[in-house]
Amino acid sequence: MRRASVGLKMIMAASGGLLVAFLFVHMLGNLKIFVGAEAFDHYAHWLRTIGNPVLPNEWYLWIQRAVLTVAVVAHIWSAAVLTIRARKARPVRYAHRPKVRGSYAARTMRWGGVIVLLFIIWHILDLTTRTVNPVSDTTQAYAAVTQDFAPSRWWVTAFYVLAMVLIGFHLRHGLWSALQTLGVSNARRQRALKAAALVVSVVISGGFLIVPLGVTFGLVG
Ligand code: HEM
Repeated sequence: MRRASVGLKMIMAASGGLLVAFLFVHMLGNLKIFVGAEAFDHYAHWLRTIGNPVLPNEWYLWIQRAVLTVAVVAHIWSAAVLTIRARKARPVRYAHRPKVRGSYAARTMRWGGVIVLLFIIWHILDLTTRTVNPVSDTTQAYAAVTQDFAPSRWWVTAFYVLAMVLIGFHLRHGLWSALQTLGVSNARRQRALKAAALVVSVVISGGFLIVPLGVTFGLVG
């Protein structure tokens, strides 16, 4: 492998790691919805005041948006360059694709990534700008989430469920690949690391999933 490819994999791993950290904290914060409207709205308000009084309101959020955007762009860019290099390294495409092509997670990385990207765009229009949300008042986070996933809007819940399952697959494979890149893995540790990647991805996507499902099935509010 070219040395530069290792560098690109490092960029993928570092940007992916940052995104996983964000997801974990975001998932934990979302669970506050089970505490009640006041706790959840208070939490949403607090997000806007992080860094006060050094930073004015919402500055932290804007810094976070910038950092996340750079991480997402770096992640996609390094994935694209690595894919193009891998294709070039195999001058003739397989006439018959080999039957065994890695796990389901590995095979869905690219399409999974595209759907996750579409989800992020929908999610911002839904719960940040509230363009496609029934509640346009941005101070009413609890109302926005509970009305968003109301049983009549089951299709929104279904889309979130699909996206969270894909994110779970994406995370499992991504974490596993990152551990290989960083050289943490060896023959003896393989099983344990695979299990760790599975546990982290199930905890994150499961923790996210119970919010829309909880609302749709009447466990919230
Ligand atoms: C069931 C799953 C999810 C729920 C219920 C949810 C809920 C929310 C809510 C309520 C907000 C607005 C917080 C506020 O500003 O008051 C938010 C923001 C955000 N969510 Fe999610 N989220 C979910 C999954 C995800 C996932 C999987 C991602 C990333 C792939 C994500 C990325 C973001 C980002 C980047 C923001 C901040 C947007 C900004 O800068 O204002 N969310 N989410």
